[in-house]
Amino acid sequence: MAVSERNFYVSRLFSIAIFIIFVIDRSHSIRIPDRISETAWNQPDQQNLKTAVFALGSFWRSEAVFGCLPGVVRTTVGYAGGSKTNPEYRNLGDHAESIQVEYDPRLISYRDLLEVFWSSHDSRQVFGQGPDVGNQYRSIIFTNRTEESRLAAVSKEKQQNRSRRSIVTTQIQQLGMFYPAEAAHQKFELKRNVFLLQLIGNLPEEELERSSLATKLNGYVAELCPARIQNQIDAKINDIVKKGWPILREL
Ligand SMILES: *[C@@H]1O[C@H](CO)[C@@H](O)[C@H](O)[C@H]1NC(C)=O
Ligand SMILES: *[C@@H]1O[C@H](CO)[C@@H](O)[C@H](O)[C@H]1NC(C)=O
Repeated sequence: MAVSERNFYVSRLFSIAIFIIFVIDRSHSIRIPDRISETAWNQPDQQNLKTAVFALGSFWRSEAVFGCLPGVVRTTVGYAGGSKTNPEYRNLGDHAESIQVEYDPRLISYRDLLEVFWSSHDSRQVFGQGPDVGNQYRSIIFTNRTEESRLAAVSKEKQQNRSRRSIVTTQIQQLGMFYPAEAAHQKFELKRNVFLLQLIGNLPEEELERSSLATKLNGYVAELCPARIQNQIDAKINDIVKKGWPILREL
């Protein structure tokens, strides 16, 4: 590839990335170094964020389900619900594949998250979800003795009330340790899409894991965003690709 051609490609990618960051989250300031730093994104609401932890089958999918919801700032896949210390993917003992969701309660409520939890898996399946068979795929709502425990219990009862013909297997369980999973499992869907990874500036692993933008795009890649958001991101990307350099002119 000729240098000028490569420069064209690189600057075009950055212009697209900057534009996407701009459209996806207008409320945060943008810094444009040779690599896009995200520290500015996460600071404003940091203290007001809340955390929820769920298990609902494969954590690759769970992360994509929650990552795209408005108000969800960050997601981390990991292991919880068991007693084994330092679980690993191939040796997770009695833990369940879990998803930790950091969210801004002013934008999305715990109740909303519970609804997404119930509608995103089959809580009546025993010993797994679809092709994912095993104890590690069981359904759990983790709570920590707050109001959330009560909301979880009520939502489970409601779910059970919808039909008495089978049992809702979901456990409601006190959260002990949450062990973040290995890097390869974080933002798993996004990591399979080289184009989008480049689009956000090939962030190093630690930044990628904390990136709100990556969190959203991870859901987008899996096509698990709410339809409206899926279409919105789709349109933005298509538009950018079609138009070429919408931002670079302004830099
Ligand atoms: C635990 O409780 C605190 C205090 O209410 C809350 O902010 C936090 O999000 C809860 N975390 C989990 C994992 O439920
Ligand atoms: C579930 O059904 C029972 C029996 O009809 C009822 O008493 C209870 O209030 C229902 N619970 C919820 C959360 O809807």
